[in-house]
Amino acid sequence: MSDTSNVKYKKYVLDDKLQYFKPHATKIENSFADEIYSSLNRDEKFISPKFFYDIKGSALFEKICLLPEYYPTRTEVSILKQLQSDLSSYLDDSFRLVELGSGASTKTRLILDVFEKFQRIEYFPIDISEILTESSEILLSEYDNLHITGIIDTYEGGLEFLKNYDTKKNLIIFLGSSFGNFSPKDGATFLKKINSTMKPGDLFLIGLDLVKDTTILESAYNDSAGVTAQFNLNVLSRINDELDADFDLSNFAHHSVYNEESQRIEMYLKSLVPQTAVISKSGVTIPLRKDELIHTEYSHKFQLSHLTLLFEDAGFKVNNTWCDENDHFSLTLLSKK
Ligand code: TRP
Repeated sequence: MSDTSNVKYKKYVLDDKLQYFKPHATKIENSFADEIYSSLNRDEKFISPKFFYDIKGSALFEKICLLPEYYPTRTEVSILKQLQSDLSSYLDDSFRLVELGSGASTKTRLILDVFEKFQRIEYFPIDISEILTESSEILLSEYDNLHITGIIDTYEGGLEFLKNYDTKKNLIIFLGSSFGNFSPKDGATFLKKINSTMKPGDLFLIGLDLVKDTTILESAYNDSAGVTAQFNLNVLSRINDELDADFDLSNFAHHSVYNEESQRIEMYLKSLVPQTAVISKSGVTIPLRKDELIHTEYSHKFQLSHLTLLFEDAGFKVNNTWCDENDHFSLTLLSKK
């Protein structure tokens, strides 16, 4: 790696098996305040889902993954268990594992198990959340031959980092149907971005949630224990804490619906009363009407028959696709065309 390519990152070397790269603190704080300013100071209000994942939000998301209603995680895990031996035939010891949105790295273990036969495993988790540091320490205690380089940044930042890093082969994984959180247009751009980051022998494994019965979908995003509601509302308490804002959480409700035409779950925070909120560090006061919606996330669902076209349009070749027995979830292994 050249000395100048990653000047925007601070490097933290903990020992010979663990290092992190993290953008300078002021850069992170300024972009949070600026992005919140422009996404809330407008008629159609939204908050980018990447801001869900502070330490508390990441922990709440881990709880969502264990909910009886939230089928995606356990379904994806069951497919990952089945594809381990197939996947093994695509890999050799020249590959490292790169993960976009690694979170608590729970599912990662099923892929690391495939790498375990190699003398040395290199893992590059990319996550916007500091949870990455905790999950990395735990992983290192479980895998003797593991070496971790964590990148605490957005997907885009992480991919840019990777592009400039070295010539080693990468298996990039993007699990949990997080790809569905992009709009179709941004998703297409993102796939092309990944494609342009990849070298000819690289591989990309992506997990996508599939279109299914509306009741199943809606209860997955509105669980009876109210964890999803807590997760959604937590973004407001994060804005309160980090940007000196005064959102009154009791005046908002979690609201999620499945839009059949657009084939996506739409998540909002609904203002229950007419109110204003001051966000000091963004230098703005936000008025909200009763029932006004702040959009927080889309979770697009996909059709198996459309996937090949989606991937080919972004310059990929499909090597293999695995699904569960109900076709509720899919994993696809791609390489550059
Ligand atoms: N990638 C996850 C999904 O789309 C994120 C998610 C699950 C989520 N439940 C949520 C995001 C609730 C916001 C609110 O399934």
